Amino acid sequence: MADQKPTPRQQLIQMITSYWTAQSIHVAAKLKLADLLKDGPKAATQLAQATKTQPQALYRLLRALSSVEIFSEDEQGRFHLTPMAELLLDVHGSMYAVAIMMGDEHYRSWGDLLHSVQTGKPAFDHIYGKPVFDWLSEHTEQAKIFDAAMTGFHGPETQAMIDAYDYTGINTLVDVGGGNGTVLIEVLKKNPAMKAILYDLPGVIDRAKKDLESAGVAARCQTIAGSFFESAPPGGDAYQMRHIIHDWTDEQCHTILSHIRKVIPKHGKLLVIEMVIKLRNEPQPAKWLDLNMLVLPGGRERTEAEYREMYAKAGFRLERVVPTPTEVSVIEGRPV
Ligand SMILES: C[S@@+](CC[C@H](N)C(=O)[O-])C[C@H]1O[C@@H](n2cnc3c(N)ncnc32)[C@H](O)[C@@H]1O
Repeated sequence: MADQKPTPRQQLIQMITSYWTAQSIHVAAKLKLADLLKDGPKAATQLAQATKTQPQALYRLLRALSSVEIFSEDEQGRFHLTPMAELLLDVHGSMYAVAIMMGDEHYRSWGDLLHSVQTGKPAFDHIYGKPVFDWLSEHTEQAKIFDAAMTGFHGPETQAMIDAYDYTGINTLVDVGGGNGTVLIEVLKKNPAMKAILYDLPGVIDRAKKDLESAGVAARCQTIAGSFFESAPPGGDAYQMRHIIHDWTDEQCHTILSHIRKVIPKHGKLLVIEMVIKLRNEPQPAKWLDLNMLVLPGGRERTEAEYREMYAKAGFRLERVVPTPTEVSVIEGRPV
């Protein structure tokens, strides 16, 4: 029966081979197949010509992807976009960059997961010879993909977060490791009197400037290039970090929080936006993102108790955890 629950064997086979689908999506993104179909359906031979690929092999890729509703094949053998394929268009906020990034450095690093489990160290460093953010700062194309992938992957969290968390009363918000400014842009649009500081590594700040300009918030948003391991910029009454803390070890997080603690005013707020790990067997994407953190930057996802302890060590009190309709919560802290 079609709606019968898969057997444990079927479930396991599906999981063991799930990278077949992932890599097929990656190749479809690399070849920009979705963009080639946006003006109408095409046969595999036409697509093969446009992508300089082998027609039969490309047809087989499209057929397999159509079997899971990424593209669909009509009776004339032409391939069409589907709602999932549309998400692979190379446009702002799509999953295009996520599919590119996951199939390149992430895939290679996950291939060495055993190294991370044996040593507790990032497989990325083992393969690429240096930490991921150092590597990205030397690889401009991949760094642009990374920034765009962050928007694609975490994009829906932004609106959910600013709906769930009330920023009223914050005069200057510092986004520490704010990346391409996607979060700040939305917060500033929603809070017209607010000012902000975007703080990130030099190359990232250079790329973010034009996004702040085109979003019309550059006049209210100062940009500062620097490392959160060296210092945090003074002048904010709230310090926000989305998907920063989970990138790093407890010791490194302590350094970051201590720098913020030095500059945050008494009435200031610390806003860490992360997934909070639920106990034991509860299914949760955060438990997989946690492994991604182990393999790539060497960080981890944490439980509420672990955040509470980390805050206390750095001179903050965990005030409350504000859930959002997405996976992330706002973990609010106050200096003590
Ligand atoms: C996972 S991304 C999150 C970006 C952004 N907060 C968001 O939610 O879209 C991590 C960010 O940390 C930045 N970063 C890494 N190392 C840094 C450092 N030492 N100092 C400042 N920023 C850093 C990266 O450039 C990147 O923008």
